Amino acid sequence: MLTAKRALGQYSTPLRTVDYMVRKVIEKIRHLKSPKILDPAVGDGVFVERLMASGVNPAFIHAFDIDPDAVQANAHIPNIRHQDFLTVQGGEFDAIIGNPPYKSKRESRYIKENKARLERQFGEIGIRNLYAMFVHHALSNLKEGGTLCFIVQDSFLTNVYYQDFRRFILDHCLIDEIVLAPRKLFHHTDADVRTAIITLTKCTGPENREKRSAHVMTLIDRLQEEDDYFHPPQDKVQKLEQRYFERMEKHNFFINVPVSIIDIILKTPLKLGHVVDGGTGISTGNDAKFLRKPSGIAEEDPDWVPFYKNGGTKDAWFYETPYRIHRDWETPGRQYKDFMTRNAQHYFKEGITCSSMGVEFSASYMPAGCLFGVNANFFSDDREHLFYVLALLNSTLAKYIIRAVFNRTNMVTAGYIKRIPYIEPAPELKTRIADIARTIVASKKANPQFDYRPLQCEIDALIYEIYGVDPADRKLLEQFCGNLYEAV
Ligand SMILES: C[S@@+](CC[C@H](N)C(=O)[O-])C[C@H]1O[C@@H](n2cnc3c(N)ncnc32)[C@H](O)[C@@H]1O
Repeated sequence: MLTAKRALGQYSTPLRTVDYMVRKVIEKIRHLKSPKILDPAVGDGVFVERLMASGVNPAFIHAFDIDPDAVQANAHIPNIRHQDFLTVQGGEFDAIIGNPPYKSKRESRYIKENKARLERQFGEIGIRNLYAMFVHHALSNLKEGGTLCFIVQDSFLTNVYYQDFRRFILDHCLIDEIVLAPRKLFHHTDADVRTAIITLTKCTGPENREKRSAHVMTLIDRLQEEDDYFHPPQDKVQKLEQRYFERMEKHNFFINVPVSIIDIILKTPLKLGHVVDGGTGISTGNDAKFLRKPSGIAEEDPDWVPFYKNGGTKDAWFYETPYRIHRDWETPGRQYKDFMTRNAQHYFKEGITCSSMGVEFSASYMPAGCLFGVNANFFSDDREHLFYVLALLNSTLAKYIIRAVFNRTNMVTAGYIKRIPYIEPAPELKTRIADIARTIVASKKANPQFDYRPLQCEIDALIYEIYGVDPADRKLLEQFCGNLYEAV
C-alpha cells in the first residue's frame, strides 16, 4: 500500500548527500550579500536544516511544499509556504536546491488531474515525470546566473523520452556537474531508484550559445558511498565540454565515457540498423493465454514452435527458449486487439534475438522455425554477416556502447541497438570472427555450460582492432561491463 506521503513522492534524502549539495550551492552564492535560496519540495526539511547548520541566514531561505503536514512540521522555517511549486511565477531565486518528487505520468494523480495545464506549461519537454517539470520550472524561477542543485532520478541521462528535456538543459544552462549517486542511496526507504545530483547554472539566450558549448562540465561516474562525493576516485571523474552532449545523437548525457569511444560513435556514419533488418515481433498482449511452457519432450507438440522473448546473460550466443507459441499465430491472434505483430516477413527465419530487460545485455542465435517477441531481433540472408553481427552484439565494445552511452536504464529496445556504429571489417577478418561465433553457438547448443570466455576474449580483441579502441580504454570498458549492476 502506498502511504499518502509516498503518493506525493516523499522520500528523505540521506544527510551526507544533502551536505554535499548544500556545499555546492554555498560555493556558488558565497559572493552574494543577501541571496534568495529556495527548497521547492521541503518534505521533512532536511535541506533547510543543513543550510542553516552551515551558517546560512534563515531569512535567506524559502521553502514550499504541497503537503500541508510537511509545512506544519516545518513551521520553524521563517519563509515556509503551503504552495504547489509548479504554479509559482517570477521567483527570481539565486539558488534552488532539493529533492523533487519522482513520479511518472502513470504514477502521479497530480499529473493526471492537471494534465492540460502541465501540457501547456511544459509541452517543450513533455510531462513524463514530475522531476523533469520541477527542473524546468526551477530554471524559470532562477535569476540568470543562478544555481540549481537537485537530486533526481537518473533516467533523464539517456532515456529517449527525455531527449527534449536534455535539449532544453543544453539550451538554458551551463552543466556544472552531474554525479551518479550511490546505487543504494534510497534503499533505506525501500525505493530502488537510481539517482544523480545535477548542478546547473542558468545561462540562456542565443548570445550565450558558444559560452554554453565551451563550458567544461564535471561528470562523475557511479559512486560507491556517499563519502566519495567529497573525494571521488579520479578514474571516475571526467571533464568535458558541453558541446559533446550537443553533438551526440539524441543528446545523450553520457558519464565518464572515453572521448575515443564518443568519437567512434560520432564519426562512424554507418549504423547497425543500416546493415541488418529486423526489430520487434509478436506482442501477444497476454502471454499466459498465447504461450505454453512444455515441461518435457513428451509434451512437445510440433504445431507449437519456439518463441524467443527475452534472453539473459547466461543466454548469450545460444539458448533454448522454454516458451512455445502456436505456429498458426495469426488465427487466434486476430480475435484479440492487444495481439500485435511486426516484422512478419522475418517470422520463422534464422536470426539473432537480443535481451531487452535486465541489467545485462546479450544476443543469441535464433534457429530457423521460431517466432519472436517484443525484444530486438535481427536478420540477414548472408549467414556470415549474421554470425559476424552476433559476435559484434556480444562484444564488450557493443555492450559498453549500449549500456554506458545509449541507455543506462534496464530496457534496451531495438532502436538503441540499431544505433551501434558499424564498421565493415576486412573480408578475412569478418570470416574469422563469424567462424568463432559459429563455433560458440554450436558448442553451446551441444553443451549449455560450454565455457566460451577464451573465444569471447578473442572476439573482443578483434572487434577492438576493427574499431581502433585504444588499449588504455579497453580496461575501462571491461571493468564497466564486468560489473554492470553497480556500474550503470
Ligand atoms: C522526495 S520528497 C523530498 C523531501 C525532502 N526535500 C528530502 O529530500 O528529504 C518530495 C516532496 O515534494 C513534495 N511535493 C510534491 N509535489 C509538489 C508540488 N507540486 N509542489 C511542491 N511540493 C511538492 C512532496 O510533498 C514531498 O514532500
